Amino acid sequence: MLVLGIESSCDETGVALYASEAGLLAHVLHSQVATHREFGGVVPELASRDHVTHIVALVDEVLKKANCKKTDIRAIAYTTGPGLMGALLVGASFAKSLAFALGIPALAVHHLEAHVLAAQLDAPELHFPFTALLVSGGHTQLIEARALGDYHLLGETLDDAVGEAFDKTAKLMGFEYPGGPSLAALADEAANDPDLPMMKPFPRPMLDRAGFDFSFSGLKTHTMMAWKKSKQTEQDKKAIAKAFQDAVIETLTVKTMRALESTGSRRLVVAGGVGANRALRKAFRAQIAALGGTVYFPRLEYCTDNGAMVAYAGCLHLMEGKRDTSHAIEVYARLPLMPEKAAI
Ligand code: KG4
Ligand code: ZN
Repeated sequence: MLVLGIESSCDETGVALYASEAGLLAHVLHSQVATHREFGGVVPELASRDHVTHIVALVDEVLKKANCKKTDIRAIAYTTGPGLMGALLVGASFAKSLAFALGIPALAVHHLEAHVLAAQLDAPELHFPFTALLVSGGHTQLIEARALGDYHLLGETLDDAVGEAFDKTAKLMGFEYPGGPSLAALADEAANDPDLPMMKPFPRPMLDRAGFDFSFSGLKTHTMMAWKKSKQTEQDKKAIAKAFQDAVIETLTVKTMRALESTGSRRLVVAGGVGANRALRKAFRAQIAALGGTVYFPRLEYCTDNGAMVAYAGCLHLMEGKRDTSHAIEVYARLPLMPEKAAI
């Protein structure tokens, strides 16, 4: 079965072709970073318009790359939420209209499930059950993935998502949008800088509390205060970026290891945009090795938003016979992956 996947939940238009037998044939992406940069963040209306501008050409491009025709496509999977309503509407309307025109099924895909399953794109041996840490711009969740479509929430952030904390902290410290990856790159540089000013470690939020919930807004404020009190030199910036990143990574790794202990799972997936963070990957690799388990990270281009994960997740569900049952266009700004926290 050849599945076209469409991702348009935020500021990236991602399109991919996934074949149930041959795997991923091609994926293409248009990033809107240049559009939103002058505003210092994503402007929803501009995001919607930009998806409209690029989606048709991206589908043509992915078909050309994979050497396929539209009529080869057997189903279309698209992101239904969570995300920006206007942006989601573009992808969903396009996907459902094309599916209708081609006389093939369409299927709504949950964005967070797609992020988690992206780890299987390069690791077909990764099987359920596993534990997943989903760290993106909008979400920070620890999930027990029991089977396809059967997910249990172990814990989540009570305020800012990790990616959001990275981006907001970066903005406060004067990094250009999108600041998260730039702040992380500076923090990585700090690790090799012997002249770095001494910095008292930043607080590790909620580590003293039982359970698997997180909180990052206090750490964000602490970091902003440290920056304001400093002389704001390049060295200060580097040291503060490192102190912030260290605190985030330790908080995430400690809580995640506790979750693994509690579920008894030895397979961990770290997914979502922040999963691209190099220091985070290094820390998780070391901790999981000590536990005798395995950590799976999606390839960097599948960590941030992309069409490949949507085509793949859609294909898995389509193979199980799932399809949209109506032609109505349904998208959701908020859409829980699982109804309530799991009792373990
Ligand atoms: O998954 P994603 O592409 O979009 C959402 O669904 O939110 O994640 C984007 C988030 C942004 O907040 C971005 O700053 C963060 O992922 N991010 C990073 C890194 N690369 C992307 N955060 C820390 N370190 C990175 N290397
Ligand atoms: Zn995402």
